Parts: sequence; structure tokens; C-alpha cells
Amino acid sequence: MPADWLITGCSELLTLSGPVPRRGRALGDLGIIRDGAVLVHGDRITAVGPRSRIERLGEARRAEKLDLGGRVVLPGFVDSHTHLVFPECRAGEYEQRISGKTYEQIARAGGGIRSTVKLLRSTSPKALKDRAMYYLREFAAHGTTTLEAKSGYGLDWESELKILRVLHDLHENQPLDIVPTFLGAHAVPPEFDRRPDAYVDLLVKHWIPAVATAGLAEFCDVYCDRGAFTVAQARRILMAGRVCGLVPRVHAEQLAHTGAARLSIEVQAASADHLEKVDRADIRALALSNVMCTLLPGCCFHLGLPHFAPARKLIDQGAIVGLATDFNPGTSPTLSMTMILSLACTQMRMTPAEAVAAATINPAYSLRQHDRIGSVEVGKYADLAAFDVAAYQEIPYYFGVNLCTLTMKRGVVIHSKKY
Ligand code: NIG
Ligand code: FE
Repeated sequence: MPADWLITGCSELLTLSGPVPRRGRALGDLGIIRDGAVLVHGDRITAVGPRSRIERLGEARRAEKLDLGGRVVLPGFVDSHTHLVFPECRAGEYEQRISGKTYEQIARAGGGIRSTVKLLRSTSPKALKDRAMYYLREFAAHGTTTLEAKSGYGLDWESELKILRVLHDLHENQPLDIVPTFLGAHAVPPEFDRRPDAYVDLLVKHWIPAVATAGLAEFCDVYCDRGAFTVAQARRILMAGRVCGLVPRVHAEQLAHTGAARLSIEVQAASADHLEKVDRADIRALALSNVMCTLLPGCCFHLGLPHFAPARKLIDQGAIVGLATDFNPGTSPTLSMTMILSLACTQMRMTPAEAVAAATINPAYSLRQHDRIGSVEVGKYADLAAFDVAAYQEIPYYFGVNLCTLTMKRGVVIHSKKY
């Protein structure tokens, strides 16, 4: 059982309390308390407010004291798009791209997702788990307390199951919460090279119902793009998931404009992710929907592509905007949410405040967990991250350094940087 804590020394406590999800101007409303304090009982937050008031509570006197010494404190980051389980990095492709090859050219030549799939199939669950464990400790050290994680590097039944079981095992055996997504439709596996619709049949008729029945995933995702699945195929897959209770998420409009954003709205997806190639009509439609627009600027940065998603237009027109790492070995090998915030600010013109809300409360909404996480409010999990900066704007301002000094998950300190 975690201890009871009185947390003080929060020069700025970003509570993120307010309407959920955040749209438009409200996205920049962080609910800041200066010289704030948080009282934690077990895994939950029991009081939040100015230190002078919280300190006087009876429970506060009995709790263990945790004085952060003047740090910016916010809800732990909620990273709503990761491909956590993979066997190896793909730094060779990074070099090829720098020399002029494109992501799609490398994929067509047998690299890309398929090369990771080939290797994953022959990798033991233990090796996959050990690698993911290492990454999870780093996620925690960078202030992330909940992450979504997708299958999708197996693409045969045993290997997809292997990934989903590793995710389940990880969720049970380390502190971070992991929300599993079935991404059997990440690529057409080599066995189905000329018969993609036969693979879609298999997904729709057998794998999706089996994953749902076994309770191995909460969401169902499709990579709907040029060179991957078509809108018609994605529609079949996502509707099959919906019927079994798996909520849709979509990799949409990354490399080419296909209509995947419209499909996300049609199937009432929790999230449409990437969106670099959305057009004006898509933006308008997304703004009127409840689909979160999950922007992944790590991809453009890592792939060296100039066209970041139109965050400003999406926010200004009222869409629900979120940010995530897309942690994966092909397009975005970062697990640092603060690096994503830095990119969001300079490359997509999001304000630091908007970026913080897009990495906490909105992704909590898209994961359907906003009653538990995403803000520092009474009744929610004590999931917190403290940064060694004087003001929250400095979190994206500094880049390429990790200034997270303390991470708490459900009332337990899981990362603490000593000086
Ligand atoms: O979200 N685009 C599809 N999936 C990943 C890339 C996966 C890979 O290249 O291994 C993404 O960017
Ligand atoms: Fe992805």
C-alpha cells in the first residue's frame, strides 16, 4: 500500500482541471495553482489547492511530507500512441533515409514494418518483455505515467498473441498503466502479399473476435494509407472491432490523403492519428466530431519531412487535439513526451500550454480514462510528474534534456532524480 503524502514545493501546480475534452481556447487553460500542494491517500488524490490551505488539513499533518523545493508539477503524461513491443531498432534505415531513400522506398524493398515483423516472429516473449521493460523505465523517467501500446509487428496469430500477452504481462508487473490496442492491420503480411482481402477476412472473421473475447485489447487500430490498407478495408476491420467492443483508432492521412480522417469520424473512432495530409474539409469535419486528432510530430522530425500536421487550424476550428510520441523503431524512436512538446511548439505553433493539455487531459479522454487520469483533481489517481524548471513554458523550451525530477504513479514514487 502506498504511503499517504503531502506534496508541497510546487511553484506551479498545473491541475488541468476543467472541461473534458479540451477544445479551442480552452486547450490552453491549465488551471494553475501557484505554490500548490497535493494530498494523496493510497493511490488517489484527496485534496488539491494552495499550500496554505492544504497544509492545515488534519490528514495533511499525518501524511509523509514530500517537499519538491519549487518545481513545476503536472499530471503524468498520457502517451496515447506507442508501438512499445518490438525486437530491435532500425538505425540502418535511418542512415539510408539520410542518404536519400524515402520511408516508402525502404518499405517496398522489404525493410520497414516487414523487417521488424520478421525479426519479432523469432524473438522470445522474454526478450521482447525485457526490452519493453527497459523502455518503460525510461518512459517513467521522462514523466509518462500511462501509455497506449499497439500490437502489429507480429501479423500472424501466434506472434500477435505473443505481443498482446507481453503487454498484459507488463501491465501487471511494472507500475505504468498500459492500454492495449490490436493493430493486426499494421501491414499486409508477406504470406498474403497478393491477397490483402483474404488477410482482412481473417482479421474480421477470426482474429478480432478472438482478441476481444480474450480481453486482450481495448482498441482496434488500422494503418490506413498509401501502401497499407485502403479505406474500404479499414472500414471493414474497424466495424468488426466495434461490433466486438473494440473502440476504433486510426493511423490516418500520414503519407497520402486517402479519406481515412473521414472514415475515423464515420466509425466514431476514439482517435485519428498523424493527419499530416488532412485537407480543409477534413479539418472542418474533425472539428465537429468527438474524434481526438492525435498529432505525432516525432515522425516528421525523425523522417526529415517538412509537412507537420496543421495543429493551429485544428485547434482554432475546435477539434480535440492531442500529442503522442508514436514510439516505434521506424518513424519515431523517442519516448520523450517533452521532446514532442518542443516539436509541437516550434514546428506546429502550439503554445506551451496547449501542448501540455494535449499530452495529458485530452489523451486521457481518447483512452476513455478521463475519470481516473489526465488531471490533478480529487478522486483521480495520484499520477504526477515534477520538472526542474521555474515556469511550465520551460518544459518545451529546453529540448534534448530530461528535466523530469520526480514521477509518481498511483501514489508511488517510481522515478526520482537526485542531485
Ligand atoms: O505510426 N505508419 C505506421 N506505423 C508506424 C511506423 C511503424 C514502423 O515503421 O515500424 C507509425 O508511424
Ligand atoms: Fe503508429
